[in-house]
Amino acid sequence: MNKRVLSGMRSSNPRLHIGNYEGALRSWVDMQEEGYDMFCMVADYHALTTMYEDAAQVAVNAREVAKDYVAAGIDPKRSVVFRQSDVTEHAELHLLFSMITPLGWLERVPTYKEKKDDMGGAEREPYGLLGYPVLQTADILLYRPMGVPVGRDQAPHLEIGNDIGTRFNRLYGQEVFTPYRYLIPKDETRAKVPGLDMRKMSKSYDNCIYLSDTEDETAAKIKSAFTTPTKMRKTDPGIPEGCAVCQYLKLYSPQWQTQWEEDRAGERGCMQNKKELTECLNEMLRPMRERRAELDDAAIEAILADGAERAREVASETMRMVKSAMGWPVR
Ligand code: TYM
Repeated sequence: MNKRVLSGMRSSNPRLHIGNYEGALRSWVDMQEEGYDMFCMVADYHALTTMYEDAAQVAVNAREVAKDYVAAGIDPKRSVVFRQSDVTEHAELHLLFSMITPLGWLERVPTYKEKKDDMGGAEREPYGLLGYPVLQTADILLYRPMGVPVGRDQAPHLEIGNDIGTRFNRLYGQEVFTPYRYLIPKDETRAKVPGLDMRKMSKSYDNCIYLSDTEDETAAKIKSAFTTPTKMRKTDPGIPEGCAVCQYLKLYSPQWQTQWEEDRAGERGCMQNKKELTECLNEMLRPMRERRAELDDAAIEAILADGAERAREVASETMRMVKSAMGWPVR
């Protein structure tokens, strides 16, 4: 049975947040424990689509993102932790896929439409931004995985990936790629974690709790988090569905159902919620912070070098299959 799984995160920021963790990284760790062959990639090329002016920073971030993977429980002995740009097959397959992908498929992608507007017109919009899902497809299909664990926002990219794989098979008359599954958390709070202000948690909104925040930083952020606006006093009824603190309690507190009922009934105040959440969340993050503190740059570079070698074994095999299907010389 195919037990290979691939996923990745952009290195546009040096630190991952609890949205990245709940949407994807937590599933990676769970699947590793269940015996899947995990390929955990740092997508440094993808970070360049918006940060091409800060290329050196993207490289520094890549190491830091890899540290967060290991800190969160990815074991580099069992799982493959690697950097996209270390495995040149990603660039090569991206190029081949770019030849067979209709432009219309890419122009319809919602994330492209949003980012494009942010970039300020066609003269400033890089070609790479449009091709973003094509590169992501190359990332995935190089490993011919059974599934890809990601947060809800990645669904449109994953759909294009299976479409490109099917199109390749049809064009060249061989079943090189089998459709993979989208492994999006069933719990919607995990699939799309709200930020401290109840918009989606995202670096660009500055509303994140980072896995490597200190205990005090976490406490201060929770203190400032958005709660039910009409709940001025403890006795006012709360609406947990619209309150960031209650949403996080659902993720991290074993007693969240009671806490929600009491919040709704005006039997507990926001301060109590915040205090209890700070305790649960810091408890969850403590072992990650400790593991992260033990990882220096040399240690993570050694992990990435080993990961690149293991990733290349699968990626080069796929490239041989791709070229053979196309009737091109295979070396
Ligand atoms: P990126 O770097 O934006 O996000 C990394 C992962 O975190 C998830 N995520 C969230 N999940 C729940 N709630 C949130 N608030 C939240 N914010 C982010 C994302 O869904 C994602 O799973 N295109 C990808 C990177 C990539 C990739 C790949 C992923 C490149 N190649 C191949 C899978 C397979 C991205 O930008 O993720």
